[in-house]
This record gives sequence, structure tokens and C-alpha cells, in this order.
Amino acid sequence: MRSPAALFLALVFSGCGGSRATSSASASASAAAAVAHNPASASDGAVVYINNCSSCHQPDGTGIPGAFPPLAANAAVTGSPVAAIAIVKDGLEGRIVVDGHVYSGIMPRWNGVLTDEQIADVLTYIRSSWKNRASAVSISDVEAVK
Ligand code: HEC
Repeated sequence: MRSPAALFLALVFSGCGGSRATSSASASASAAAAVAHNPASASDGAVVYINNCSSCHQPDGTGIPGAFPPLAANAAVTGSPVAAIAIVKDGLEGRIVVDGHVYSGIMPRWNGVLTDEQIADVLTYIRSSWKNRASAVSISDVEAVK
């Protein structure tokens, strides 16, 4: 029997096959490869983003000046992955200044609401979307930030 994580990935990855029939053997093999490489998916992250982040940060990542900071062209997003992971996991509260606008809002913590995989996916998405061009974030990167 595979571990629950591998089984979960097998389900996710077989789901990615769409209507194509995927044999369970090849789904298991790709799940095993996925666990080994610990990838994050920007396309899955786009779905996580639309469902959980876009109401505040807007679908195009530009935010709402004075209320919700932009995630496009924001060094807090494209800089240190560890810092960005910590913000998304723990939430953020207190005064910040982005592009000359002051924000003093509260972002809820996403740890426990989203899985580590979803957090890796959404960070990979926001770091590589709009004009952002920063590195992907892996599931193990997210797991490492407590
Ligand atoms: C309810 C509205 C809301 C939602 C939903 C939301 N955020 Fe936020 N986010 C905020 C606010 C407000 C701040 C700024 C907090 C402050 O002023 O200290 C913020 C800050 C951030 C920052 C740090 C920006 C900086 O310049 O330091 C990142 C990164 C971020 N959010 C990512 C996300 C991601 C990814 C999601 C979805 C998983 C998300 N947010 C969902 C309201 C939200």
C-alpha cells in the first residue's frame, strides 16, 4: 500500500489526465516521480489563487490601493521565497508600505486552511504571473517553514 501522500498525488495526477484514460500503474508511477521531485504547479496555483486570494488582491494581482497590496511587481512576492511562504502561512498584520501606499490591514493565516501543496502551488503561481519572474516554490520549501 502506498503512503496516503502518494495516494493523494495519484488521485490528483490522474485527475490531470482529463478524459484520457490513465492506467493506475502509470498514475502511480507519475505519483512516485512527483513525490521524488516534490513539484509545485503554477496551473493548479492559478485555481487556488482565484478561489482564495483574488477577491482581495484582484485577479490581475494589482490589489486595491490602500486596502489590499498588489502582488504583481511586489518584492515581498518575488524576493526571498522563505519570507513569502511565512507571510502566506502565518498571515500578515500591521503597517506596510507598498509602492507608496500604506496598508494596515489583516490577512488571515492560510496554514491549515490550504494544504502545503496548495500553498506551494499558489506561491509558484504568484511568483511567475503577471510580470513576476521568480523561482518556483516546492512543497518541501513550504514544509520547511514552520
Ligand atoms: C481578506 C483579504 C485577503 C485575502 C483573501 C488574501 N489576502 Fe493577502 N493580504 C491582505 C492584506 C490586507 C495584506 C496586507 C496586510 C497588512 O497590511 O499588514 C495582505 C498581504 C499579502 C502579502 C504580503 C504583501 C507585502 O507587500 O508584504 C502576500 C504575499 C499575500 N498577501 C498573498 C496572499 C495570497 C497568496 C492569498 C491567497 C492564498 C491572499 N494573500 C489572500 C488581504 C488578503
